[in-house]
Amino acid sequence: MAAYERIVILTGAGLSAESGLSTFRDKGGIWQKHRIEDVATPEAFLRDPERVLTFYNTRRGNARDVQPNAAHKALARLEAEFPGHVLTVTQNIDPLHEMAGTTNLIHMHGEISRVLCMHCGARTPWETDLTVDMVCAACNRSGGMRPDVVWFGEMPYRMDEIYSALTDCDLFISIGTSGNVYPAAGFVAEAREVGAHTVELNLEPSAGISLFDEAIHGKATVVVPAYVERLLTR
Ligand code: APR
Repeated sequence: MAAYERIVILTGAGLSAESGLSTFRDKGGIWQKHRIEDVATPEAFLRDPERVLTFYNTRRGNARDVQPNAAHKALARLEAEFPGHVLTVTQNIDPLHEMAGTTNLIHMHGEISRVLCMHCGARTPWETDLTVDMVCAACNRSGGMRPDVVWFGEMPYRMDEIYSALTDCDLFISIGTSGNVYPAAGFVAEAREVGAHTVELNLEPSAGISLFDEAIHGKATVVVPAYVERLLTR
């Protein structure tokens, strides 16, 4: 394996599947049980905030009792032991990367364990259910408290930092994502553009498979630790 210096890792729901959290587009996934336009857009929240909050209250509850799996732990080990730079960008709103020990981490789609006030922009850690009549401690107004997650039609977080890392990386690894949601699905093309080696680790070929130089298909808890081992012992 070549000697890499700067790695960008993109992760998706498949990474947390073996920790017990549902993916979105697999059989029985979240988007087979709910319509995106009912629960994951700003318009849905304006139309029926209770329905949206109930959807995310369930997801916050599900994320509360889960533990990082061998793949999250392997990625934390990579960040700790790799002699170069490692940035992990996750589409996941669960806290499993940080629980495993990853610190150089961007939650581009937000975090389920935080609440955002739409009136004043205050962000606060939040572990229990949200209700429509909640009052913001920062501005004292009610009706604007929403989960701090990025909905369809909104701009993901920290995109400047992500693109800057992508244009500077020599290895891009995409893990557990179906490659259907942009801008994340476009990261592999950005990395290729600057000549980075591109690798997919996923249960099955993703929508962007033709843009990867290398692909290893299998369960994250098997293929991710094995790939990390290869990188660290090259
Ligand atoms: N190991 C590895 N990959 C897996 C596993 C597993 N155990 N189980 C499932 N997968 C793969 C699936 O084959 C699929 O390609 O993970 C991928 C999950 O894809 P999606 O459900 O589409 O999830 P993701 O790509 O993270 O979705 C992106 O869409 O609605 C949203 O905002 C949400 O962040 C999410 C975004």
